[in-house]
Amino acid sequence: MNSNHSPEKLAVFIAQTLDGYIAGLDNDIGFLDKYYQENEDYGYSRFMHDVDAIIIGRKTFDKLQSFQMQHYYEGKPCYVITHTPRTNFQNFIFYSQDIQQLYNLMCDKYKRKFYIDGGAETIASFHKLGLIDSFTISILPEFLGNGIKLFPPSGLSSDQLNLEYCKQFDNGLIQLKYLTKPKN
Ligand SMILES: NC(=O)c1ccc[n+]([C@@H]2O[C@H](COP(=O)([O-])OP(=O)(O)OC[C@H]3O[C@@H](n4cnc5c(N)ncnc54)[C@H](OP(=O)(O)O)[C@@H]3O)[C@@H](O)[C@H]2O)c1
Repeated sequence: MNSNHSPEKLAVFIAQTLDGYIAGLDNDIGFLDKYYQENEDYGYSRFMHDVDAIIIGRKTFDKLQSFQMQHYYEGKPCYVITHTPRTNFQNFIFYSQDIQQLYNLMCDKYKRKFYIDGGAETIASFHKLGLIDSFTISILPEFLGNGIKLFPPSGLSSDQLNLEYCKQFDNGLIQLKYLTKPKN
C-alpha cells in the first residue's frame, strides 16, 4: 500500500431513492431536481474540498455530456472507466486498463481523496477489490420502481460497515455515511 494512503482515500458520495435507484429508466435522473437548493448542497462542497481526483463510469460520463456544461468537477482530473479507449479532453482522462493499477497510479499521483461519482457498475468494480473506504449516501424520499440500483442484488461484502453519521434534512432527505474499515 502506498504511504500516501489516508484512512479515507476512495470515497463514494451519491444519491439514491428510498427504493435504491440512482437513475430511472433511460438513465433519467430527473428525480434529483427537486432536491437542488440554493442554500443547501448536503455537504457536497465540503466533501469536494478534500478531493484531488474523480472517477466515473462511461455511462455516467455520457450522461454528463448530455448536459453540455462548460466545466465538470471544478476542473479536477476525472478518470472515465471504459473498455473502449478514447482521446482525453479537458479534465477527462479515459482509462481502459486494470482497476487496481489505476488505484495504485492515483495513490502515487494524488495525496488526498478520490471521489467515485458513479454509477453503480463502476462503484461495484472498485468495491469488489476492497478499495472503497467510505459510502456517503443521500436517500431521497422517492420511489422509482425501476432503473439502475446503486448496489447489485448480491455479491458485495458487508463485513465492515461502520456508521460514521446519519443526518436528516427538512425536505425528508437522509444522508448516511458508512466507513468500510474500522476507525483507528
Ligand atoms: N444518483 C446519483 O447520484 C448518480 C451518480 C452518478 C451516476 N448516476 C447515474 O448512473 C447511471 C449510470 O450508472 P451505470 O451503473 O449504468 O454505469 P456507469 O458505472 O456510469 O458506467 C458503466 C460503464 O463503465 C465502464 N466500466 C465499469 N466498470 C469497468 C471496468 N471494471 N473495466 C472497464 N470499464 C468499466 C464500462 O464502460 P464501457 O461500456 O464503455 O466499456 C461500463 O459500461 C447514469 O444514469 C448516471 O446519471 C447517478
